[in-house]
Amino acid sequence: MAMEVLMENKKEKKEKRKVAWGITGSGDRLVETVEVMKEIRKQYKNEVDIVVYLSKAGDQVVKYYRLFNDLKEDFDRVQVEINPNSPFLAGQLQLGKFDFLLIAPATSNTVAKISMGIADSLLCNASIMGLKAFVPSYIMPSDYEEGMIVTQLPNGRDMKLRIRKEEVERVKKLACMEDVIILEKPEEIRQVFKKHFRLEKVQ
Ligand SMILES: Cc1cc2nc3c(=O)[nH]c(=O)nc-3n(C[C@H](O)[C@H](O)[C@H](O)COP(=O)(O)O)c2cc1C
Repeated sequence: MAMEVLMENKKEKKEKRKVAWGITGSGDRLVETVEVMKEIRKQYKNEVDIVVYLSKAGDQVVKYYRLFNDLKEDFDRVQVEINPNSPFLAGQLQLGKFDFLLIAPATSNTVAKISMGIADSLLCNASIMGLKAFVPSYIMPSDYEEGMIVTQLPNGRDMKLRIRKEEVERVKKLACMEDVIILEKPEEIRQVFKKHFRLEKVQ
């Protein structure tokens, strides 16, 4: 019994790796992304801490979709943007505190800014500064493919939207950047964790 407790304590003391998950103000595929991330969190809870970073608009949209409490309950910490350097995610990425930055979903605004090197918001700054320090950014844009999409409003109703060629061009530009990996669907996030972390075998 004492041996089991000792082993358990040792396991808990093991330094966990960390992932920064940025959520921008995108309603499109927000619910699906949170669902996938909750499953990933459960699967990797002994190996990885997931810290959630919300852009100001992300905070607003997450609350519209009534997901803020889920994030608080299911993830290790939830931080909200005050300005580009507060919380100081960019610095932490550059210091190697996180294995990678995931931005999912990423608004057309955030995609456009990162693709242009504009670092005036928390997540754009974090991505660009992280890239300068060779920290990869996995980005799942809300606007991936040109054409019509149906997105779900916070009240559950559907809304048709047009994804313009301009948005798609910016995604393509982003995809050409070194250490930026574009994800098309929330499901692809599972592969990212699989690539970076090894699950410990449960005896
Ligand atoms: C309910 C709601 C849903 C939104 N959904 C989207 C979306 O799916 N895609 C998008 O590009 N912008 C969306 N927006 C607009 C962004 O939140 C807005 O452009 C904001 O400035 C983005 O800031 P951020 O990129 O710093 O998060 C939405 C806004 C609201 C209020």
